[in-house]
Amino acid sequence: MSLRTIESLGSLAGKTVILRCDLNVPLKDGEITDDGRIRASLPTLGALTGAGARVVVISHLGRPDGEVVEKYSLAPVAARLSELLGVDVPFAADTCGPSAKAVVASLGDGDVAVMENLRFTPGETSKSADERRAFAGQLAELGDVLVSDGFGVVHRKQASVYELAEILPSSAGLLIASELDVLDRLTASPQKPYAVVLGGSKVSDKLGVIEHLLPRVDSILIGGGMLFTFLAAQGHAVGASLLENDQLDTVRGYLDEATKRGVDIVLPTDVVVASTFAADAEHVVRPADSIENTEFGDAGIGLDIGPDTAAAFAGVIRSSKTVFWNGPMGVFEFDAFSGGTKTVAQALTEVDGLSVVGGGDSAAAVRALGFSDDQFGHISTGGGASLEFLEGKHLPGLEVLGWQA
Ligand code: 3PG
Repeated sequence: MSLRTIESLGSLAGKTVILRCDLNVPLKDGEITDDGRIRASLPTLGALTGAGARVVVISHLGRPDGEVVEKYSLAPVAARLSELLGVDVPFAADTCGPSAKAVVASLGDGDVAVMENLRFTPGETSKSADERRAFAGQLAELGDVLVSDGFGVVHRKQASVYELAEILPSSAGLLIASELDVLDRLTASPQKPYAVVLGGSKVSDKLGVIEHLLPRVDSILIGGGMLFTFLAAQGHAVGASLLENDQLDTVRGYLDEATKRGVDIVLPTDVVVASTFAADAEHVVRPADSIENTEFGDAGIGLDIGPDTAAAFAGVIRSSKTVFWNGPMGVFEFDAFSGGTKTVAQALTEVDGLSVVGGGDSAAAVRALGFSDDQFGHISTGGGASLEFLEGKHLPGLEVLGWQA
């Protein structure tokens, strides 16, 4: 690993530093529901302001597809950052237009400002390298150097993540460095037994990581919406639960491969089946092979792993020395279906070794369920990015900063 560090940029006193963060936080009715990613950017911000730099923060929020969409404005993020830093943080109403230029010109040494959402401009996410490069050229006019610290977005080849880092002198920030430090420990020589807990809705998002991890881990525990594709692959009826029919053969292939390699793919033995997808839906616990055997018939929908499964998962997790978890075990936003996610999160806090919570959804889940960051070995700010790292994929936003696997 040879990531360029902030020190490689030389003295930053009086310089204008563009800081690319991932401040893509969940919002509800304009309120930030989890500010983890903003707090995770504070160490780098502190290092830069402490060095006397003028810091221009750029980020995306949501997927506005190159249009100005009010609900994806970074204004609430700038306000929260201002609260956390305890100083005024001016906000520019555009990303690199007249407002941005005026705000940047007003900064003194050690000041911080936030620009409007990068993805309001089509060039940021364009498939055309020329369009991305043109937008990156405009962004580059905002500062002297780039510190790239948006770990959650390093798997995207986007203008502010990739082309901008080629145009300006650039380095990684402290968040990216600390995320890589932990992910490296998960891949280089993890302490055994090593368990990986996967949940979330789409099995297709997780197949790459399952394939890559099979030779490296001792057990893979499967929960969340994706578990139903595994149950269906074993020939069980799953009612109206989430199902990716086109993945059944692939999943069967992984189950066979796991058996050959001696890796335990642990599937649920019981499931919480609901009458419909709603917080107050009627629900019952059923064995995983009898999901349709309820009063709801084939309209029954699995919304959480059952209590026996949660206890079994917790046992495997607690007896492991390394655990990586990505994806909630059920619809944790609904109290009645949050039990599996809670039990798994609790077990992770009891691991005598390295426990890593990977990603936006899982991180938001543990905080929403009342756990605090310091109960875990590490909470990653990047869901997709950490999965792609563990898949051994090329991550453009890291490679452009000098990183080599
Ligand atoms: C994330 O939330 O995973 C990152 O911010 C990346 O967002 P994206 O998936 O919209 O590129």
